[in-house]
Amino acid sequence: MNAVHAVAGSSAALDVATIRRDFPVLERTVRGLPLSYLDNAASSQRPRAVIDAMSRYYETSHANVHRGVHTLSQEATDLFEGAREKVRRFINAKSTQEIIFVRGTTEAINLVAQSYGRPTLGPGDEILISWLEHHANIVPWQMLCQQTGATLQVAPITRSGEVDFDAFAALLSPRTKLVALAHVSNALGTIIPVSRFIAAARTRGVPVLLDGAQAVPHMTVDVQALNCDFYAFSGHKMCGPTGIGVLYGRESLLSAMPPWQGGGDMILAVSFEKTVYNGLPYKFEAGTPDIAGAIGLGAAIDYLEALGMERIAAAEHALLDYANERLATVPGLRFVGTAPDKAAVVSFTLDRVHPHDLGTILDHEGVAIRTGHHCAMPVMEFFGLPATARASFAFYNTPAEIERLVAALLTAREMLG
Ligand code: ALA
Repeated sequence: MNAVHAVAGSSAALDVATIRRDFPVLERTVRGLPLSYLDNAASSQRPRAVIDAMSRYYETSHANVHRGVHTLSQEATDLFEGAREKVRRFINAKSTQEIIFVRGTTEAINLVAQSYGRPTLGPGDEILISWLEHHANIVPWQMLCQQTGATLQVAPITRSGEVDFDAFAALLSPRTKLVALAHVSNALGTIIPVSRFIAAARTRGVPVLLDGAQAVPHMTVDVQALNCDFYAFSGHKMCGPTGIGVLYGRESLLSAMPPWQGGGDMILAVSFEKTVYNGLPYKFEAGTPDIAGAIGLGAAIDYLEALGMERIAAAEHALLDYANERLATVPGLRFVGTAPDKAAVVSFTLDRVHPHDLGTILDHEGVAIRTGHHCAMPVMEFFGLPATARASFAFYNTPAEIERLVAALLTAREMLG
């Protein structure tokens, strides 16, 4: 945490060289070359503070939570509930009752589909999403439509990769029962101006879920200011562990929703005649939770907050500008997704080079990017592409790594172009 302490509380730019030393994996080599990890939209790396918080918990305090009066169980419970409070503060929810620990964004959205959607939707009802959604914000709604007879409406996007607001507004109707939108597109990087979309939905009394998986790691998110009803995100994209994520839900909605999984901890009393469910948030957390994951997520939040989300956003924006400028010099490179307001994600194609071949050649140069459809096949279909290459940056990346990406792309072009 030294790097964090060195910059905490100052308005200076991040000290990236020092920060990089907090991330053990960034020290490693790949095929004999230093690693340039540019696949942060798929999963970020973890600082030692997160790894240590989880190890410390396992080494000193592991026991089950909410179940024992013994010291270890109480320590584990305090750490677990402490992490919930950190999440609450981080996204400015009103109450920890509104913070449900889940496996990740995908599980959070499935929870809303099954617990909010399934009991309330029926034939003739509509769920409105956009064309740039990740599969996690498409498939659970398709499943819900099959279960209830509701239909899925899809707001179109533009060639620059923005959600067409007027078309979205025109699709809102008395039949719309839920809006589910990405906050930031994983495939294109577009930051959706969600406040406008939420306001339009709310004037018609339609609840809004935001898929914040690509937003929470990169910008300040305030669920009260957004005035959304549900907000989902994952730990592993924000320097936390895999297997833990969060569903924020407005308390009035969560209270009225039935549990979606039954088991231990989500109950107050069980008999063969009748079960009385626990209150929020435990009603939605059946079984032993990912205690270490929640503690690791809490440590990740501490780490990000110490750096400062505004400085993180500024550092990543500078990387995005630099990458756009440098990649534009690569002959045959075409950007996919050119919205004016973007997170630090650059999708592109290179003439005559299949993205998968590109990914392999780049790996030989020690540069890790993602290639493929990015779990957003409708986006690829919209642009008439089978796949793109995608470089996605975190605050610990450097301009030198972008130079290595550019050099590796020029090598790939020479070999295959
Ligand atoms: N959703 C992750 C990505 O965009 C896996 O790569």
